[in-house]
Amino acid sequence: MDPVAAQYEAYPYPARDPAAEKTRLIVGSPSNLPELNHYLFAGRRDFGRPFRALVAGGGTGDAAIMLAQQLADASGPGGDAGEVVYLDLSAASRKTAEARAEVRGLGNISFHSGSLLDLPELGLGSFDYIDCCGVLHHLEDPPAGLAALAAVLAEDGGIGLMVYAPYGRAGVYPLQDMLRQLAGDLPLAERVGLAKRLIDGLPETNAFRRNPFLGDHRRGDAELVDLLLHARDRAYTVPELVELVAGAGLAPIALIEPARYRPESYFAVPAVLKRLSEQGWLERAAFAEKLAGNVKKHVLYVAKTGTPETRVAAPEHPEAVPLLFDLEGPALAQAVQRDLTLKAEFDGLALRFALPRLAPAILQRIDGCRTLGAIHEELRGHDAGLDWPAFLDRFRELFAALNGVNRMFLRQPAG
Ligand SMILES: C[S@@+](CC[C@H](N)C(=O)[O-])C[C@H]1O[C@@H](n2cnc3c(N)ncnc32)[C@H](O)[C@@H]1O
Repeated sequence: MDPVAAQYEAYPYPARDPAAEKTRLIVGSPSNLPELNHYLFAGRRDFGRPFRALVAGGGTGDAAIMLAQQLADASGPGGDAGEVVYLDLSAASRKTAEARAEVRGLGNISFHSGSLLDLPELGLGSFDYIDCCGVLHHLEDPPAGLAALAAVLAEDGGIGLMVYAPYGRAGVYPLQDMLRQLAGDLPLAERVGLAKRLIDGLPETNAFRRNPFLGDHRRGDAELVDLLLHARDRAYTVPELVELVAGAGLAPIALIEPARYRPESYFAVPAVLKRLSEQGWLERAAFAEKLAGNVKKHVLYVAKTGTPETRVAAPEHPEAVPLLFDLEGPALAQAVQRDLTLKAEFDGLALRFALPRLAPAILQRIDGCRTLGAIHEELRGHDAGLDWPAFLDRFRELFAALNGVNRMFLRQPAG
């Protein structure tokens, strides 16, 4: 058996308890429905229409469960317009994913065992959206894997990828090498024990010990195996990722969280920023990951057709509806009222965004239904001089901050 397949048979990843579906839904990037709609369909996809999603290398089911639940909710009562196809090599992982779907009573997922490399021959049809998270970097031939995904992607569809990034994983690869040298021939369970003892004794100069942002191995054995005892794993810089994507005839559309890939979000040396401002978004992103040094994985949306300008929703139209992710408008309005600053932290990197004076009044009115036009009308009731262009300028400042930290998306009427 291929060593990667054997590993996920013994240690399905991530470890999940199906019973937990009774109390919470795990939602995250990529593939959160409002997020993928924002980045790949300009916020205009109507999920009441048929929508086919593939989760390639679905593991224990996080993305498949999230998408299936969100699609079921979005297609309305009795609606079954959204369909999720789960594919993975590991029977043990699939079993957990199926049990989770059963606890939720989800009937819109079909489960398949097999390799994503065989997708063009599996006859599963074509897909509007493909999630492939934490899988390509484990393949012997990642370009072949991405090409197989591209072959079953609809012309106007999109893919959400996650692959490892090197700088934030500083210390991981030397430790993987050491464990291979020490115990590459031992059974996996024994290597886990040895790895724990090695970690406990690492000297303070060791790069892994000095990297405070690596904590997965403390969550459990499956997480430790995935981080340190993986049979095959590589990390991609932004330029390497761009090359991988282009090789499959795809184009990068967005990197998540956007602010982390914009040096100006956390760096303020004018002479440097001026030179960077003359470069493209991907060149700036490549600079940013080296500058911050803490990016452990890249989440990237890619598509066969279009560009960020045509695929990503932008605050332009009165009929756009701003959506907050994991935040409530009124509570956030209150939190930023005093110092008009949005604060966020990613892997030790603190971000601060100055918000416009109008921010609390706008946030107060964001409820997932009100359009920008309706919010503007309400605010004009208090300030007759607030015309649409002035309102839009203020909203764009607020949007740049909140979207930058992945907390705001836009939904627009179906195109
Ligand atoms: C790190 S886990 C990620 C699981 C899931 N995507 C997530 O993010 O929670 C990688 C998964 O990819 C699966 N996998 C690896 N190679 C594969 C292949 N060629 N085809 C399908 N699945 C594969 C493994 O079995 C494993 O479940």
